Amino acid sequence: MNPQIGIVIGSTRPSRFGDKPAAWIHGIAGKRPDLDFELIDLRDYPLPLFDEHGSPAWGPIKNDVAQRWAAKLAGLDGFILVTPEYNHGVSAVLKNALDYAYKEFVRKPVAFVGYGGVGAARAVEQLRLVAAELQMVSVRNAVHIGGNDFLGLWRHDKSFDYFPHLAEAAAGMLEELAWWARVLKNAREKAA
Ligand SMILES: Cc1cc2nc3c(=O)[nH]c(=O)nc-3n(C[C@H](O)[C@H](O)[C@H](O)COP(=O)(O)O)c2cc1C
Repeated sequence: MNPQIGIVIGSTRPSRFGDKPAAWIHGIAGKRPDLDFELIDLRDYPLPLFDEHGSPAWGPIKNDVAQRWAAKLAGLDGFILVTPEYNHGVSAVLKNALDYAYKEFVRKPVAFVGYGGVGAARAVEQLRLVAAELQMVSVRNAVHIGGNDFLGLWRHDKSFDYFPHLAEAAAGMLEELAWWARVLKNAREKAA
């Protein structure tokens, strides 16, 4: 079975832009024969701000939405986080969702599609630190939709076809993600 990759939309705002880059990367990724992808919308997992007794790394979580979230993550072999940047950091809703699981992330790869003035570079670098603590492998190549590309897509309703270099960046990122997803899936299965 192909590694299963979840594409997580890191914003839940009613008027979010995040749908656009998520659909775009899903369209590109879906052409790969060696990986399977699904879009994961955090709106479908309305988690409260973290209020469990302790970290999910230490024991089971009680919240039923969080249990459903963890069950979804458990069936995945890797992730693409489609992330905005809020005040030079990670969106609270995405960080909260990451805090709500632990072992479901361990030894799985994670890649990033960031969007914003600087392509969410600061948020992505912060996410790499979080990913290290979750024992994930963050792949080097990312897609940063920034500057005029972001403005064109966000404010002027341009299509991704105007910015072919973004698809090139996506191809490089997906190549790395595929390698790590395969290697880590095999290793996890061997160790089990
Ligand atoms: C609370 C807040 C803080 C923001 N801070 C930044 C920022 O630090 N850097 C940036 O590039 N854009 C920033 N923006 C603008 C976002 O890039 C833009 O609103 C984008 O659409 C947010 O993604 P979303 O619509 O998917 O939620 C901010 C937006 C919000 C709502």
